[in-house]
Amino acid sequence: MSRIALVTGGSRGIGAAISKALKAGGYTVAATFSSNDQKAEEFTEETGIKTYRWDVADYDACASGISKIESDLGFIDVLVNNAGITRDAPFHKMTRDQWTDVMRTNLDGVFNMTHPIWPGMRNRKFGRIINISSINGQKGQFAQTNYSAAKAGDIGFTKALAQEGARAGITVNAICPGYIATEMVMAVPEKIRDSIVAQIPVGRLGQASEIARCVMFLASDEASFITGTTLTANGGQYMV
Ligand code: CAA
Repeated sequence: MSRIALVTGGSRGIGAAISKALKAGGYTVAATFSSNDQKAEEFTEETGIKTYRWDVADYDACASGISKIESDLGFIDVLVNNAGITRDAPFHKMTRDQWTDVMRTNLDGVFNMTHPIWPGMRNRKFGRIINISSINGQKGQFAQTNYSAAKAGDIGFTKALAQEGARAGITVNAICPGYIATEMVMAVPEKIRDSIVAQIPVGRLGQASEIARCVMFLASDEASFITGTTLTANGGQYMV
């Protein structure tokens, strides 16, 4: 029987590439999305991957959405916490809403999704939790105190939970993508984007499929001795 994988924010951007790669690798995949029904429908039509709508910032919605997926497809073996947003502003202009929205989605969302799934993984003695953090959680980024704090928080969460899951056959790892050619990065003003690309030794933005490959490795049985790690995929922009 195929393993079940759940990808948050899994119908667009890096998440869509991850969902497709997992499906191609033989997993049964469910993808969540928060608002764009039309994009999600198109994604399901194109890929055959079921999509479910809820906001990862809402704990109760996560708990009931996960139960629904488990009754539709079976218990979740692989959770990819990918859903994330940006609300960029220099700190002196940042509003409380910009701070809170990013923390609730990018950090609380990881708790909200992982917490209801964790007891089942412990009982079944197998699980893969893969948290999509960011280069900007490692190095900080001008105009992203909110995003950098949340993404750095995801790395701390990963390292702590990895210690708790180790004896139960659950690995917990983070991936830190650099600047990947998705809508999120293409929304950065062109002049600034060009200056970012100039800082990337490989000389280009990354592809979403290059992050999906990292997920496939960490999800596999071959990665069972790797836990609590941060896999950095950023074209050499920041070396840790
Ligand atoms: N370092 C130092 N100074 C910088 C800077 C930087 N990296 N970027 C901008 N500045 C300066 C500008 O030169 C400008 O200075 P002056 O006032 O002296 O001209 C000032 O900061 C910007 O002030 P503005 O009032 O113009 O700022 P704004 O309110 O218009 O906001 C911005 C501009 C939205 C922050 C814009 O600079 C921006 O989008 N920056 C990109 C931030 C970024 O890289 N975000 C990453 C998004 S992708 C992502 O997050 C995915 C991932 O995981 C990698």
